[in-house]
Amino acid sequence: MKYTTLGRTGLKVSVMGVGCGGPSRIGQSTGISEEDSVAIIKHALKSGINFIDTAEVYRTESIVGRVIKDYERETLIISTKKSTWGTIKPKDVVNSLERSLKNLGTDYIDIYHLHGVILQDYEYLLSDVVPTLLEMRDQGKIRYLGITERFNADSNHSMLERALQDDVWDVMMVGFNILNQSARYNVFPKTIEKNIGVLIMFAVRLALSRLKRLAECINELIEKEQLNPSDIDQANPLGFLMHKKGAINLVDAAYRFCRDELGTDVIISGTGKIEHMKANIDSILRPSLPESDVTKLKNIFRNVDSISGQ
Ligand SMILES: NC(=O)c1ccc[n+]([C@@H]2O[C@H](COP(=O)([O-])OP(=O)(O)OC[C@H]3O[C@@H](n4cnc5c(N)ncnc54)[C@H](OP(=O)(O)O)[C@@H]3O)[C@@H](O)[C@H]2O)c1
Repeated sequence: MKYTTLGRTGLKVSVMGVGCGGPSRIGQSTGISEEDSVAIIKHALKSGINFIDTAEVYRTESIVGRVIKDYERETLIISTKKSTWGTIKPKDVVNSLERSLKNLGTDYIDIYHLHGVILQDYEYLLSDVVPTLLEMRDQGKIRYLGITERFNADSNHSMLERALQDDVWDVMMVGFNILNQSARYNVFPKTIEKNIGVLIMFAVRLALSRLKRLAECINELIEKEQLNPSDIDQANPLGFLMHKKGAINLVDAAYRFCRDELGTDVIISGTGKIEHMKANIDSILRPSLPESDVTKLKNIFRNVDSISGQ
């Protein structure tokens, strides 16, 4: 595994993390047993991954807890979150954090995020909820503060652009992928300047793992005039990436593309299949995609900021 430093936290993190949410919820959305989900995470840790992302709302924290009880706690970086859908009160965060600690079987969280924040809720959360987070940090229950965006609803990162004006966030979870590269302009210059750790979600999601969904997204982008049809082969829009010196398949291209983007630290991989976890770890360790392919991807999707790749 390869490791990097997660911005100003100074944490040494693997460049791939295990995601316990997303469409798969480590297989809990597709009906696999908890034992099989445990095996997926254990395989990742055996391969050198030391970063696990979960959230109370995913209902996978206790599965993570079953895995991490067998490890020295300080060898792992655990990220979890309090959702911000509806109006949350400071005491909701205190109660949620206590439940997360119990579910995970730990007495501290490395990175505790406000989850899925939208711009219209940001000022309230900053003034009314962040002071409570800082208290919990002072009590040693949280090491670093994070914030994640609601990428489906905020695909051009308006909330994170606002949050980047404040100095409270140590880590941000950002939507970024081949189709929507807008974080390169709206987020990464500032996270680099402020040395904020960056976790990437949506690297693959549905559009880059299901060809039918990819075709729908491409059509939507053409209709919205964010994609020039003459820039792509509509029958096989990303087929040019797969060749002898290029990507193995689209998912492989997706993870390698994100890993090499300046400003990304941990690429989070969500899967409910152990063979996919193995393949994704292989991908994150492969060399860079050919420069000409990356340049072409940057050019084709240069104007896209309206879809998440969901
Ligand atoms: N706002 C937020 O805070 C937020 C939102 C979304 C996600 N997240 C976090 O970010 C993590 C990553 O996002 P994500 O789960 O959407 O991950 P992702 O890695 O971008 O995509 C996951 C999707 O790709 C498929 N996939 C993964 N590997 C594959 C492979 N080798 N071949 C074919 N299909 C493959 C999965 O299906 P299979 O199960 O079939 O492999 C799943 O449908 C989440 O798990 C969660 O921890 C946070």
